Amino acid sequence: MLEGKTVNLRVVEREDLPLCAEWVNNPEINGEYEPLLMFSRADIEKWYDSLGPKERWFFIEKKDGTKIGLIRHAAHGWGTMIGGVIIPSERGRGYCTEAVKIMVDYLFLSKDIVRIQARTNQQNVASQRVLEKAGFEREGTMRKSNFSRGKWIDMLIYSILKEEWKEPRILTQTTSK
Ligand SMILES: CC(C)(COP(=O)(O)OP(=O)(O)OC[C@H]1O[C@@H](n2cnc3c(N)ncnc32)[C@H](O)[C@@H]1OP(=O)(O)O)[C@@H](O)C(=O)NCCC(=O)NCCS
Repeated sequence: MLEGKTVNLRVVEREDLPLCAEWVNNPEINGEYEPLLMFSRADIEKWYDSLGPKERWFFIEKKDGTKIGLIRHAAHGWGTMIGGVIIPSERGRGYCTEAVKIMVDYLFLSKDIVRIQARTNQQNVASQRVLEKAGFEREGTMRKSNFSRGKWIDMLIYSILKEEWKEPRILTQTTSK
């Protein structure tokens, strides 16, 4: 487990997949900017079993163990990408920003990578604020690169380079819990 100040990140296990399925199929949790996609339990199990060592999903948990969101990292040809979600009742309290900072610490401390990136819908201001607060820089726009809610939309690309990653780091400790 990756421990921060107000949240921890816990790797998603196979037995957690029913909760993941419930969340990924809930449009209120995905928010208004993510594609409207539905997955069966079998889809989710197949996807989970296909994850390689360079791709992981983590629950974002409060210190009392309550699960309040998900954050993931995955390796792509052009770098390592991250993305996440917080359940609606827990938004606006800085939890996603802290989860992103923990993930950035973890990735730069554990992998020989120089760049972490995230993509976000141009209208998703909350997501852009999270990335800016976590030290990411806006790089540009991928015009009409994502089909969501019946239309092609522009996506913004953000990144943080290893040399821009500054103290104080927020990952306080790692445990086997
Ligand atoms: C994006 C998301 C993960 C943010 O989680 P969160 O825990 O609420 O994020 P934080 O509390 O750390 O920060 C949110 C920031 O966005 C701001 N914000 C939220 N909604 C906003 C809006 N409509 N307009 C402007 N700013 C907004 C908040 O005020 C806060 O900034 P501040 O600290 O400067 O006040 C959450 O909204 C979510 O799960 N959305 C649905 C899924 C999604 O879009 N994921 C991103 C995919 S790239």
